[in-house]
Amino acid sequence: MNSGQRLAIVYSIATGSSVARYVTRGFFSLREFPQAFARMVLTGEFGLFVGIPLVLLVAARLFQHLLPRADTLATVLTIIAVLWLIIGLVRISRYGRSSGIGCYALETDGSLGQLAGGLRMRLERPSRKLWIAGLLVEPEWRGAGIGTALILAAFRLAWQQAAHGTVTVCVFAPSHPASKAIIEKQLGGLQTIAVTVQPSEMQKRTMDRLEQALSKSQSTFDWRLTDTEQPIF
Ligand SMILES: CC(C)(COP(=O)(O)OP(=O)(O)OC[C@H]1O[C@@H](n2cnc3c(N)ncnc32)[C@H](O)[C@@H]1OP(=O)(O)O)[C@@H](O)C(=O)NCCC(=O)NCCS
Repeated sequence: MNSGQRLAIVYSIATGSSVARYVTRGFFSLREFPQAFARMVLTGEFGLFVGIPLVLLVAARLFQHLLPRADTLATVLTIIAVLWLIIGLVRISRYGRSSGIGCYALETDGSLGQLAGGLRMRLERPSRKLWIAGLLVEPEWRGAGIGTALILAAFRLAWQQAAHGTVTVCVFAPSHPASKAIIEKQLGGLQTIAVTVQPSEMQKRTMDRLEQALSKSQSTFDWRLTDTEQPIF
């Protein structure tokens, strides 16, 4: 674990897409994917979008083999499963465009060095939902508070954007023990929190807890959430 290093948490319209791609690439890399996928299978979201139609398809097969004249039931179950999958895919596609918040190691002259981690967002425009759709920190940087800082950055960004209307921060399928720890300890177990200009008790408590957790980190964070005056949705 790297600690005591200066890091920058950066959001800008210019870097947002490349950070989102970095998180996706990292998640699907040979290094992360097997473990990340194994954990993902145990999330409620995976059960809802993939598990239920899979169970229906298996049930359709079983009925066909075990029960005589169960063809109609098997067909109905298969149709429901396929429709379920399609509706799920449509729902996920409506989570909106991707963008990202990056965490960069800072060079001695203050310029941005390598990416140490990133948070991928999906920005759902009509409902003003900021989905936290992916979180990735490079192995050598884990445990230094970067995951916590990136979640706090998403809340800060949402808070700035709340000037244009309430933003709901939603965490999609947290699977890693560290992501779950952040939700349990800092987000009070909630995966959905409304962010308004005048913060609600819950919003205040969440952001305070994230800040407190971060104050324990030995790393120093520079906040560079530029462009946040412009609407991001
Ligand atoms: C999940 C991930 C982004 C966390 O990043 P991180 O920078 O290490 O997280 P933090 O240092 O901010 O730690 C957050 C909390 O989780 C705890 N934690 C960290 N690693 C942990 C682990 N392996 N098991 C359990 N808890 C852990 C920390 O102690 C901290 O809690 P605290 O504030 O009470 O001390 C990182 O581990 C990662 O990239 N994992 C692989 C990709 C992945 O699975 N992403 C998540 C998809 S939901």
